[in-house]
Amino acid sequence: MKKEKRSVRLLIFALTLALLPPAVAAEVHQATGFKVVNVTSTAADIWTRVTVRAAANPADAPLPRVEAFEAKTGKPVALRENRAFPDTRVLVHMPDGLDLGGAAGGAPAAMGQTRVRFRPKGMAAWSETPWREARLEQDGIAVHSLSGVVPGTHYEVVVQARRNADDSRPDEQSGEFTSAPLPDQRQPVTFCVMTCQKYERQDRPDGLAIYPAMGALRPDFFVNTGDVVYYDQGPVIALTPALARFHWARMFALPTLRNFHRNHTSFFMKDDHDILANDCGPATRSGELTYAEGVRLFREQTALPAKANRTFRWGRDLQVWLMEGRDYRTPDWAEHRTPAPTLWGREQIKWLGETLAASTATFRVILTTVPVVGPDRSNKDDNYANAGFAVEGKEIRELLARYPNLTVITGDRHWQYVSVDPATSVNEWSIGPSTASHAGGWEEKTPRPEHRFLRTGQGGFLSGVVTPTATGASLELRLHDVDGRVVYREQK
Ligand SMILES: [Fe+2]
Repeated sequence: MKKEKRSVRLLIFALTLALLPPAVAAEVHQATGFKVVNVTSTAADIWTRVTVRAAANPADAPLPRVEAFEAKTGKPVALRENRAFPDTRVLVHMPDGLDLGGAAGGAPAAMGQTRVRFRPKGMAAWSETPWREARLEQDGIAVHSLSGVVPGTHYEVVVQARRNADDSRPDEQSGEFTSAPLPDQRQPVTFCVMTCQKYERQDRPDGLAIYPAMGALRPDFFVNTGDVVYYDQGPVIALTPALARFHWARMFALPTLRNFHRNHTSFFMKDDHDILANDCGPATRSGELTYAEGVRLFREQTALPAKANRTFRWGRDLQVWLMEGRDYRTPDWAEHRTPAPTLWGREQIKWLGETLAASTATFRVILTTVPVVGPDRSNKDDNYANAGFAVEGKEIRELLARYPNLTVITGDRHWQYVSVDPATSVNEWSIGPSTASHAGGWEEKTPRPEHRFLRTGQGGFLSGVVTPTATGASLELRLHDVDGRVVYREQK
């Protein structure tokens, strides 16, 4: 009797299986999550990307092998780090049976469609963007502009990804962001700034410790000041568009980054390693990539607007400037010193002067991809702290010194400092690098006279907190270690 019962149960189970629809999993995925970008008081863009699989390829999968040959002679070129390889032909090899989509850590794009559902937190009704095509030519990326965004409002977001209109089980990922308050709204603001993240320099099995550490502060917005990926460092030197996209996909498929970006507004600034190569400028080429192609790929991967330099208000007390450090440079500055080379470009400097003068914010924060004050090492030649840009550097520091409550925050350097320019008293905060194993560059352990703070050999990030007070507002700036502990703070 018992036996009969069991066989009946088995038969019912088998029949149920036969009647069930086949696969229940989504057909496409979002291994690289989504990014909330270009947020103002009335607008926000959601960067989405459709992927083949739900997570990155395993770390023990093979890596591509990259070879370069002189375009004219066909002679092999030895690839080295931190430099460009112009006039080369590139070959990318994967083991038999695999293509680049199977490479370790990668998250290859899929064809599909995405849309965004969003609503102010606590409201019942969702707004929806139309479905947009995500094509392989765009690396599976589609960017959605949200309409009807209301100032100073906390939004819930859900991004759906599907194969096509017949796909009834979209992949869903949720997140949130807060739109900027209006310039006359006085309210607390928290922001975080970081720089220089390299895939091979992770400090947790799931990515970088600074992301959960920054997330714990619940920042209203976050700025990555550049070197978001390192095309020109091994083991895979990115000399083709496909390899460049591989660098981006594996970075943003790291769980710590994926979770942070879908829940926080990001502003991305580009520097040199994430456009082409170390110290690159508009005339640099490397492998199959031109400078313009490097910029196009950066735009694709971060939804950067056409004009990279921008300024935005975040309420009554804070205005932020994001300075563009590569596009407007004298292309061949190393060879030509007369007239003195430009770094930010005359037009951008004019724009900076005009917008600084027009600003009514209590605090002005200038974010730069390369130092304006320093000090920096004497063998470097790509920023305002170096002798090669001394003429324009002095002009910039004198311009900034005209404004009270102004702070410069720089990325790029792989050590933390707070310095004061002896000539103008302009303050500069150097915030990175993102992990301790990526630290280096400044070996002196004793602070110089211009250093108010110096910390080498470690990683970290900066946070800023604006707090309304009885008479106005205060701004506290803090440097953190990778776990979020404050290592230095100053009240403005
Ligand atoms: Fe860097």
